[in-house]
Amino acid sequence: MAKELRIGMIGYGFMGRTHSNAYKRLNDFFPVKHRPVLKAVCARDPKKAQAFADIWGYERVETDWRKVVNAPDIDLIDIGSPNDTHFEIAIAAAKAGKMVLCEKPLAMDVKQAELMVKAVEKAKVPNMVWFNYRRVPAIALAKQIVDEGRIGRPFHYRATYLQDWTIAEDVPQGGAGLWRLDSKVAGSGVTGDLLAHSIDTAMWINGAITRVVAKTETFVKKRKHQVSGKMESVGIDDACMFLAEFANGSMGTFESTRYARGRKNFNTFELNGADGSVYFDLEEPEYLQYFEYMQKQSGKKIESHLTGWRKIHTTNPEHPYMKHYWVPGTCIGYEHTFLNALADFVAGVESGKPVQPDFRNALQTQKVCDAVIKSAKTSKWVTTGVKL
Ligand SMILES: NC(=O)c1ccc[n+]([C@@H]2O[C@H](COP(=O)([O-])OP(=O)(O)OC[C@H]3O[C@@H](n4cnc5c(N)ncnc54)[C@H](O)[C@@H]3O)[C@@H](O)[C@H]2O)c1
Repeated sequence: MAKELRIGMIGYGFMGRTHSNAYKRLNDFFPVKHRPVLKAVCARDPKKAQAFADIWGYERVETDWRKVVNAPDIDLIDIGSPNDTHFEIAIAAAKAGKMVLCEKPLAMDVKQAELMVKAVEKAKVPNMVWFNYRRVPAIALAKQIVDEGRIGRPFHYRATYLQDWTIAEDVPQGGAGLWRLDSKVAGSGVTGDLLAHSIDTAMWINGAITRVVAKTETFVKKRKHQVSGKMESVGIDDACMFLAEFANGSMGTFESTRYARGRKNFNTFELNGADGSVYFDLEEPEYLQYFEYMQKQSGKKIESHLTGWRKIHTTNPEHPYMKHYWVPGTCIGYEHTFLNALADFVAGVESGKPVQPDFRNALQTQKVCDAVIKSAKTSKWVTTGVKL
């Protein structure tokens, strides 16, 4: 008999949809013992929340997240609301003894993130942050290739995360849909929104980032605020570039902007090592590119006359997650990264082996984000204090 996993979803926006889809499909694809039950969705507009609940099959609607967090018929609180809400909801959920899944970035800053880690660890509740790109099969394969020692000594890590939707000066800031441009709600701009993903992926694959030096820019200094109706200063970073040092001796460059005309969700990375390289581009998500410089023969490394970049179509059953889906050569999509993350989380709850990234792990990404913002303000190298 499947055990019920009763869900309280906070937020019905973009992430409310991706997460709800994952809960609904979990048992169709993964052999876990829990069965998600969509108990309650919470958002401030009851009509819109009800319309969402009707589509996705939530049993009830709440407009105050406290009611959901304290409801005895809910096991797991899923925080899919804007960044400034994560702290209070996560702490209350942990105190109420609920499992907590939280969207990224974990918090507005390191201070909040540390208290959130304390809360979930004190309450001993299972927790995870939705850094879903770790669950792209091609990215998980890159991690496997690096862990197998195929890249050799790492030298360079290069990440970009580019979009183009804020170029027009008349895009307002704040309020529904545009809270990302309001620093009071978002905390930061592209650093917390986009680079948090790149940093999480980088540290998962290439280890701790120890020092950074950054430059940020706000191209449009004033925008109309949707709530006040007035022109207000823009406090977010529209673009950010930083240099990084990794604990393993390699160096990295990270670039993010929402002003790269033509780029919609251009999330790429490349790692170059002595023996090989890997390259990933989210605009071709099912491919991982791998350059093998050294091949092994009879236990010895030899230079090969057949070296070259390989474009691996990561759709075989031996590729991460793919045995749960279709036949080789067919693809999965963006939504499956959330399904894969949820499946790992539930399997972790069932095996007692906590899944990553948990809050403590996501705190390390928050440390890098804070160090980047601090460096951009001071024009100095900043030590991150990351502990992996
Ligand atoms: N993992 C990813 O790839 C990814 C992608 C997009 C967004 N995110 C993160 O997910 C979170 C939500 O982003 P989104 O794009 O879904 O935003 P969104 O604007 O589409 O949706 C936000 C939802 O939160 C609700 N909300 C706002 N304040 C609330 C409150 N006080 N109580 C209850 N509900 C409230 C809104 O009504 C809305 O339903 C953010 O933290 C964002 O950074 C992560």
